[in-house]
Amino acid sequence: MRRPEPPFLAACRRNPVPFTPVWIMRQAGRYLPEYRKVREKVDFLTLTKTPELAAEVTIQPVRRFGLDAAILFSDIMTPVEGMGVDLEFDPGPVIGNPIRRPEDVDRLRVADPRETVPFVLEAIEILRRELPESAPLIGFAGAPWTLFCYLVEGGGSKTFIKAKSFLFAEPDSARVLLNRLAEMMAAYLRAQAEAGVQALMVFDSWAGLLSPYEFRSFALPAVRRTFEGLRGLDLPLIYFPNQGSTLLEDAKLAGADVLGIDWRLPLSRARAVVGSEVAVQGNLDPAALFAPRDALGTQIRSVLREAGPEPGHIFNLGHGIERTTDPDAVAFLVDRVHEWTEGNGG
Ligand code: CP3
Repeated sequence: MRRPEPPFLAACRRNPVPFTPVWIMRQAGRYLPEYRKVREKVDFLTLTKTPELAAEVTIQPVRRFGLDAAILFSDIMTPVEGMGVDLEFDPGPVIGNPIRRPEDVDRLRVADPRETVPFVLEAIEILRRELPESAPLIGFAGAPWTLFCYLVEGGGSKTFIKAKSFLFAEPDSARVLLNRLAEMMAAYLRAQAEAGVQALMVFDSWAGLLSPYEFRSFALPAVRRTFEGLRGLDLPLIYFPNQGSTLLEDAKLAGADVLGIDWRLPLSRARAVVGSEVAVQGNLDPAALFAPRDALGTQIRSVLREAGPEPGHIFNLGHGIERTTDPDAVAFLVDRVHEWTEGNGG
């Protein structure tokens, strides 16, 4: 007899599920004491480059909470180092050689991930041996536009003025850079799939900085190119355009099977825009985890009600978990989602 599909993969494909699967963006990290213990010994970059340790911290939240998916411990910036970028973390990415002129774009090369990030592929192989079947492994990459933001700006920012003004001032060079990032990320995601990940997610954390016009003319063609580069792989593709409420009609055209929805837009409204051919993932406000249990419960129920009875909902937060979150609130969340959706079939 064929084993039933794990609920996370079934929901990505909009198949019926025994309960709503749940995982959490940034589920491995500093809110977990067991993660902080590993981080006392190694810095973040070393952690991402040591397969045994990266695998260990990937498994930590799955072990503690019984989550329905694992996400590879790495960073969206990991694969750009091999393109010729000087990268450090403090605590967010800091770029030593930001891209400020069209000539700078030529410096970046599309590299072979097997040569530049073998440690990522090795971590995936370890994880596929060690993870339970109930927790499929998600591989991921940054969307071209979000990587562009860090590479041009040189680090994090609220407004990314340098990155955005590069679009307006040098649209042709911007497109060259976006396309190069799109190709590199397609190769990177494909290598992760070949190493064994069971779903692929693209994080577009800064999509919401763009108007629908700029999104359509710069970010969307690039992310489409990444997804087109993954054709023929038989695994679910997830796209998360953060703060993308005004971009969803366009975001749907990226070519993913699942759209991540941030906490600003109720899922019923997201579903009304994107239709029933894609699944949705989200979207509890990460701040709800700081509320007393009864108020947190109300917020969880509201997300489930908004998602509705049709198949194709993966429960998640509407952005990454905050580093001061109480792990017991996460345990409560995972248990209630399972308990309250058991037997719903959808
Ligand atoms: O558990 C998981 O979700 C997997 C690991 C993961 C990390 N970063 C680990 C990390 C994932 C999926 C990411 C993606 C990522 N990285 C994104 C997209 C998601 C989002 O939040 O929008 C972005 C924008 C980055 C860039 C980045 N890396 C920032 C802004 C920061 C600093 C912010 C922070 O949380 O401290 C990082 C560093 C980083 N990436 C940490 C972790 C666990 C903290 C490093 C540490 O332990 O000191």
